[in-house]
Amino acid sequence: MISLSFLLFVDDMAPQASGLSPPVTFIALTPCLDRSRPQTLLRMSSQAEEAAEQTSNTVEAPTSSSSTETDPTNGTIITVTVGATVPTGFEHTAAEEVKEKIGVDARVSKDRGRIYFPITTDKLFQVHLLRSVDNLFVVVAEYDHYQFKESKEETLNELQELASKLPWTSALEVWRLNRTLKKKKGHRKAGNATRAKSNAEPSEVPAAAAAAETEQQELPQVMSPDDDDAKAEVTPDSETRQQDLEDTAPEVKLIKFRVTCNRAGDKHSFSSNEAARDFGGAVQEFFQWKADMTKFDIEVLLNIHNDEVVIGIALTEESLHRRNISHFGPTTLRSTLCYGMLRLCKPQESDIILDPMCGTGAIPLEGAIEFNESFYIAGDNNDMAVNRTVNNICHIQKRRADKGSPCGLPIDTVQWDLSNLPIRTSSVDIIITDMPFGKRMGSRKKNWDLYPSCLREMARVCRPGSGKAVLLTQDKKCFAKAISRMGGLWRKLHTVWVNVGGLHAGVYLLKRTGSVFGQTPEDVHESRGRGDAQKDERDDKELC
Ligand SMILES: C[S@@+](CC[C@H](N)C(=O)[O-])C[C@H]1O[C@@H](n2cnc3c(N)ncnc32)[C@H](O)[C@@H]1O
Ligand SMILES: *[C@@H]1O[C@H](CO)[C@@H](O)[C@H](O)[C@H]1NC(C)=O
Ligand SMILES: *[C@@H]1O[C@H](CO)[C@@H](O)[C@H](O)[C@H]1NC(C)=O
Ligand SMILES: *[C@@H]1O[C@H](CO)[C@@H](O)[C@H](O)[C@H]1NC(C)=O
Ligand SMILES: *[C@@H]1O[C@H](CO)[C@@H](O)[C@H](O)[C@H]1NC(C)=O
Ligand SMILES: *[C@@H]1O[C@H](CO)[C@@H](O)[C@H](O)[C@H]1NC(C)=O
Ligand SMILES: *[C@@H]1O[C@H](CO)[C@@H](O)[C@H](O)[C@H]1NC(C)=O
Repeated sequence: MISLSFLLFVDDMAPQASGLSPPVTFIALTPCLDRSRPQTLLRMSSQAEEAAEQTSNTVEAPTSSSSTETDPTNGTIITVTVGATVPTGFEHTAAEEVKEKIGVDARVSKDRGRIYFPITTDKLFQVHLLRSVDNLFVVVAEYDHYQFKESKEETLNELQELASKLPWTSALEVWRLNRTLKKKKGHRKAGNATRAKSNAEPSEVPAAAAAAETEQQELPQVMSPDDDDAKAEVTPDSETRQQDLEDTAPEVKLIKFRVTCNRAGDKHSFSSNEAARDFGGAVQEFFQWKADMTKFDIEVLLNIHNDEVVIGIALTEESLHRRNISHFGPTTLRSTLCYGMLRLCKPQESDIILDPMCGTGAIPLEGAIEFNESFYIAGDNNDMAVNRTVNNICHIQKRRADKGSPCGLPIDTVQWDLSNLPIRTSSVDIIITDMPFGKRMGSRKKNWDLYPSCLREMARVCRPGSGKAVLLTQDKKCFAKAISRMGGLWRKLHTVWVNVGGLHAGVYLLKRTGSVFGQTPEDVHESRGRGDAQKDERDDKELC
């Protein structure tokens, strides 16, 4: 079955004559219980059906939803592939979480920073609760080895033709289902106060968190002749008008969309800009949707990595890594990356976990939420950082209290200097921190003093024999030097290479050796290396 042109009712409302042409199709929003009828939620208009017949020999039929099951309470259940962007380097960690929480095997894409896994639509809500995923999308189609044509023109033409050949139906159903999930949630939580707002869908442009090696662009679409109408709809005035109408009359809303193209690879004859523009134009023509870069209902994703092409529909409006942080600082770490670091050291019941340079507290906060059988101590020497951490914790505590939850988060905040922690020797199980890179925070020069004193003090408070540390830094050279001088106290087990805001960084998993602190040459504060350090710093400059 092919849906050629349709218009979606985004609200649970009856159709209304709108004078729009071509004739439109609507989504049956009540779960379809009649097993004798095709279980599809996207019905075609007669005109679309005619068109479908005309082209049926050239157009590949989309995945049929006839194999779906129905359930009186859960509606139609279909199986789709969900794609997720995850912090690069932590793909396998994310796959592990998916296995644990959704019970399915995820495929790690060769396009680093992505995983794919199958879900039945009844699991859709759980997918949004995963802690290691940044953005989610439902896959429309994927090509492992797409044969791009030689010339730019041919390639772009083919992309345009693709738009009308893709099996959109299931993915669009999932998008619609997600929309109803979201609405239900909004209603319950916020009563009537945010209803108008949530209907207006203020989809802000996602914060650019593009991996450095990826060319990422969000571009304006080719504008249709009735572009003016589209613009009028997004002005504050008409928005207010829309909201007023919503309270009084059912309203037909034309779907607004945009195409976002992520392209990586150097063998393409076209830019992501051109691909998004031409593919977007064809999508617009095919569905009769309106292109709108900022206030869109649907975000179509065109991901191109060398010869791998994946077309998807976004299921997140904002990266999930921001969801539990309210007070951001200059170097706030993505909570999804924090989650990956936490998983690396496997927190156990009653573990004492320290983040001695907590900044906004993203790491211990994620720990306190997700691995809540351990206890976290978050500290920083900067009072603004400490304030932010306190505010972030309070914000969540307050929301929990409002919901009637009696449990506080297992976390405390302290202001301290890392080189002199008010913590007893050998009392901490895990240290997990994000060290100043010396770029956005601190300086490379300072790191040559900070890193050794940091590793020394951490070795003091950490339990010999069983203690662990997970440390993130971009200053790999300085870190390597510092750790090599601490060989008696720390042993490097594993390194995960990650991408932090475009910077290549390492997450080092260290194990505290059995050596008692204060008895190895490394503990001596006046370390032998002053002269060395200066020399290394010179080397560093020469190399960079
Ligand atoms: C890269 S930031 C940590 C960011 C944090 N992970 C977040 O998500 O906000 C490094 C932090 O180390 C802190 N810091 C630097 N030197 C310190 C020291 N000697 N003692 C304690 N904290 C220190 C800085 O104030 C900064 O907040
Ligand atoms: C449908 O929902 C019910 C509860 O509403 C649940 O017990 C059941 O497992 C769901 N069915 C499927 C297939 O998920
Ligand atoms: C999908 O549902 C989730 C969870 O209810 C919601 O947060 C998200 O904004 C929805 N996505 C879209 C694209 O509407
Ligand atoms: C709806 O909003 C009005 C005005 O903001 C408020 O007075 C009323 O209590 C709200 N009703 C509910 C059910 O939340
Ligand atoms: C984190 O944020 C999500 C989405 O806003 C919310 O549902 C969840 O309750 C939050 N977690 C905590 C521990 O507050
Ligand atoms: C820890 O988290 C689990 C799962 O989210 C929750 O059921 C439990 O009540 C939490 N425990 C505490 C002490 O908050
Ligand atoms: C931190 O918060 C305290 C009280 O909330 C305030 O007195 C202090 O000035 C704040 N410090 C900074 C640097 O914002």
